Amino acid sequence: MPELIEVLSKEDIAKSVTDVATAISEDYQDANLALVGALKGAFIFMADLAREISVPLQLGFIGVSSYGTSSESSGEVRVTKDLDLDVTGMDVLVVEDIVDTGVTLGFIMEYLKDRGARSVKVCALLDKKERRAQEVSVDYSCHVIPEGFLVGYGLDYAEQYRNLPGIYHLKM
Ligand code: IMP
Ligand code: MG
Repeated sequence: MPELIEVLSKEDIAKSVTDVATAISEDYQDANLALVGALKGAFIFMADLAREISVPLQLGFIGVSSYGTSSESSGEVRVTKDLDLDVTGMDVLVVEDIVDTGVTLGFIMEYLKDRGARSVKVCALLDKKERRAQEVSVDYSCHVIPEGFLVGYGLDYAEQYRNLPGIYHLKM
């Protein structure tokens, strides 16, 4: 059986989400903010973050997946659910569960610029530095994690564990 070791409690996450939302609310006071969540991993983070942001905003989701196995990204990303919001002229904040190699994020940022976004920045729940292959700037992150495979609070392993309230290191 895989072993789950708690890395962040529900309370740890709630505090960092509030702090990041406060920073975003200050920085986007005179903007046309659109949050674009990357499915499926970002759905819980998106719901909590959006409710803590105090400036007006619009919401959209995009589904992307990278080819290859779950542990090894091939570097090829494709859209599995198209963006359901017109972001022309909007100040877009991409909401990601975790940035690992950076390939997924790099793709989404280019996609949003092509769709006419005025600005594109990034808010990630977790910034995992270990395997970064593509240079991407993570403008807001709740937690920096050095390494390991994490599940819970939206993050999955083979579609399991997304519903856990905390974040856990999965040891196989
Ligand atoms: P990247 O393109 O390598 O940055 O991969 C980002 C995507 O891979 C994330 O949005 C997750 O869906 C998935 N991923 C990367 N690391 C983990 C992890 O530790 N746990 C769960 N999913 C992960
Ligand atoms: Mg995933």
